Amino acid sequence: MARKRLQPLLLAEDSSYEEAVPKPFLKWAGGKRQVLDALHPRLLPIQGAYHEPFLGGGAVFLSLGEVSGGAYLSDTNSRLVRSWIAVRDQTEALIEVLAWHLGKHSEDHFLAQRERDIDEASDVELAGWMIYLNKAGFNGLYRVNRKGRFNVPWGRVERPGVLQPGRLRATSRALQGVDIRCQDFAQACEAVRPGDTVYFDPPYIPDRAHGFTSYTADKFRHADQERLAALALELKLRGVKVVLSNHEDPTIEQLYPPPFCIDRVLVPRHVNRDAAKRGGVTEVIIW
Ligand SMILES: C[S@@+](CC[C@H](N)C(=O)[O-])C[C@H]1O[C@@H](n2cnc3c(N)ncnc32)[C@H](O)[C@@H]1O
Repeated sequence: MARKRLQPLLLAEDSSYEEAVPKPFLKWAGGKRQVLDALHPRLLPIQGAYHEPFLGGGAVFLSLGEVSGGAYLSDTNSRLVRSWIAVRDQTEALIEVLAWHLGKHSEDHFLAQRERDIDEASDVELAGWMIYLNKAGFNGLYRVNRKGRFNVPWGRVERPGVLQPGRLRATSRALQGVDIRCQDFAQACEAVRPGDTVYFDPPYIPDRAHGFTSYTADKFRHADQERLAALALELKLRGVKVVLSNHEDPTIEQLYPPPFCIDRVLVPRHVNRDAAKRGGVTEVIIW
């Protein structure tokens, strides 16, 4: 069946009008843009170095402004981490790759890109691929199957917000000097010193209360939540400022007895296959 081609697109999408402020370049499940107002009073002022070991789309880090004590960002999703590194170090080359994708934007191009064996490509090619598929795919998500194949359907978006040069440059500036690594959260915390600030935003509990955990082919299990809670307490007792996000769920909350405090916040959610569950969920901020 012949596929309908979309209208030709303007290449310089938004370069003259966009705000030149850092902003997440990927839409990521569990993104924290909606809860920044509730998080900031718990996180700010940032003391010492800032550590964010479940980086995802990085909405929290990018909302902080300058962090004078240094910043350490990490995640176990290597495609995501390599994309962050490309945004930091190869912004102009990335803008060219994105312009190429945008020029070719169509269902055929999307489906062909989805099949690409991208892990062998350079960081900048990989970052362009991530951003293009994320914006052109259904509902703006990143999801892979067990083999690591991107499996989000075509999003039928006529003008995906792929090319935002001013934002990418601003994000790159915010990332200069920032340490970005692919690693497990426990390894990331080896660099934490007393007086530092750590923000943990782990994946949600699978299959419960609108859970979505397929960021990588590996799942984050309850044993990982327990490992995280033990580490959070150890850091707190060492004089580290610790703030965590999670779903409101008794199995999580019981992992954080006093001295932790728990606040609740209602968050509108859009990333869910089931439209009925896209309304709102209650999250907790543990501090
Ligand atoms: C809820 S998301 C973070 C969302 C992020 N705060 C944002 O605003 O977009 C959780 C992240 O944890 C990562 N992750 C999963 N298991 C991990 C582990 N063991 N150590 C570190 N990161 C992990 C996932 O790849 C995912 O990006």
